[in-house]
Amino acid sequence: MSKIDEILSQYREGSHESLIPILQDVQEAEGYLSENTIVRIGAFLRMSTTKIYGLATFYDRFRFFPCGKIHMKICNGTTCFINGSSTVADAVRGELGIEPGQTTRDGRFSYELASCMGGCNEGPVIWAGDTYYTHIRPEEIPGMLAKLKVLAELK
Ligand code: FES
Repeated sequence: MSKIDEILSQYREGSHESLIPILQDVQEAEGYLSENTIVRIGAFLRMSTTKIYGLATFYDRFRFFPCGKIHMKICNGTTCFINGSSTVADAVRGELGIEPGQTTRDGRFSYELASCMGGCNEGPVIWAGDTYYTHIRPEEIPGMLAKLKVLAELK
């Protein structure tokens, strides 16, 4: 039995209210929600994949791509934006050579732009490698990524 089948066996077929718990369980098990998984869940719940994507993308917590060993969230909320989060995101993009939602070829890094992470008075804020980095400035990004690269090697 696949992981997905195992998860689905805990829910009632066709039960639309199970969608979010199922998506949470699958993401916890697989790390992200693949296209195949969404189709499989759609068949199980008798829901269109468009509707599932629509609901899932409403929540920040769901990812639709496999993450790198170090997954970063760059806050793009209003306060962080006012404090320069876009220049921080540009620095990350420049250093890693990938766009939000992509993973580096070596599988070390991925990142996404996130809504407010609750640390507005310390922004711009980045969450990476289980740590919150606060008051981040673009010129700090190369050093920060170098340290995180070492962490990625240990994973
Ligand atoms: S806007 Fe970035 S933590 Fe609130």
